[in-house]
Amino acid sequence: MPTPVATPSARSGAAARAAERAFSGIQPSGIVHLGNDLGAIRNYVALQDQFEAIYCIVDYHALTSLHDPDLLRRWTREMAASLVALGLDPERCTLFVQSHRPEHTELAWLFATVTPVSWVERTPTYKEKKASQPEDVNHGLLTYPILQAADIAIYKATRVPVGRDQDAHLELSREIVRAFNHRYGETFPEPQAVHTDAPTVLGTDGVRKMSKSIGNTIEILGPPDLIRKQVMSMVTDTLRIKRTDPGRPEVCNVCQLHRFFGDDYLEIQDGERTARTGCVDTKRLLADRIIRHYAPARERYADLMAHPEEIDGILEAGADRLKPMAAATMAEVHEKMGLR
Ligand code: TYM
Repeated sequence: MPTPVATPSARSGAAARAAERAFSGIQPSGIVHLGNDLGAIRNYVALQDQFEAIYCIVDYHALTSLHDPDLLRRWTREMAASLVALGLDPERCTLFVQSHRPEHTELAWLFATVTPVSWVERTPTYKEKKASQPEDVNHGLLTYPILQAADIAIYKATRVPVGRDQDAHLELSREIVRAFNHRYGETFPEPQAVHTDAPTVLGTDGVRKMSKSIGNTIEILGPPDLIRKQVMSMVTDTLRIKRTDPGRPEVCNVCQLHRFFGDDYLEIQDGERTARTGCVDTKRLLADRIIRHYAPARERYADLMAHPEEIDGILEAGADRLKPMAAATMAEVHEKMGLR
């Protein structure tokens, strides 16, 4: 797999670690899919060595769509185990659960008082959620990006490893901290997104971004049979009807994903273009490679899930470690806003 591209201007070494902080959040959605890993988690792992890195499982955010307490608890633990299995190292980063640091919601409220309603109403994800869960257009959906801004700002993070779908949220985060700084004086830095070389991974339908809510995912830590089934269901080049038709690898999602699982990407493309290989062959090979690539992580995941107390300990230690930093920011904000 190629090295994740940590742009903009990823710096390395102790100086950069001290100077800047990376932060990102991920919803406890139960499964971690290929889009999460190629679009974001690979960079979470890479940035551990470049900056002080903080990663958060955003259960408060999840509550805007999920109202089952047992499921939320289970999925939170599963997401933590997935992240550690994929390479987050509690010695090199801080991993925690959002609701364990309730200062996030307090800062979100304070940010809400400097955020015009029109800014949150125009957020694309709000519009999408309104359409996808019309029976549950709760206020949290509207406030969602304000809480996201608070997540980042409370630790004064400057680098935010995310997929392209989070760009609008990041833009809003910058606007919110700018509005705060303008009214109360320079307090928060403006965060920048850090993308991998796969900022948008398409789902098995080959059209929409891979997403659990759409149901077009490849569950990389799931059982090999499931991964194989999901990969074999992928839509390829829709104009390639017969096995002998030449393919167009540039529009085939399967061919595109091969880029991340072997050095023979160009050869695979060529096979498709000249109809030397069929779509089924290319999918079978991709399934084998994904299964093989994630085998060690799948094993670590199973190990961790067999020892839930270990996961809970990592999350608890993470939240404790962040307490002084969150408290210092809140004290500064209280002072500036006239609250204490
Ligand atoms: P979430 O949980 O939807 O996704 C987690 C991360 O995975 C990336 N991602 C993708 N990247 C490429 N292709 C895809 N198909 C794909 N699907 C998901 C997302 O871009 C994201 O980086 N709102 C955020 C969580 C959040 C957050 C934050 C992020 C809350 N607070 C503060 C950054 C900073 C979300 O729902 O991500």
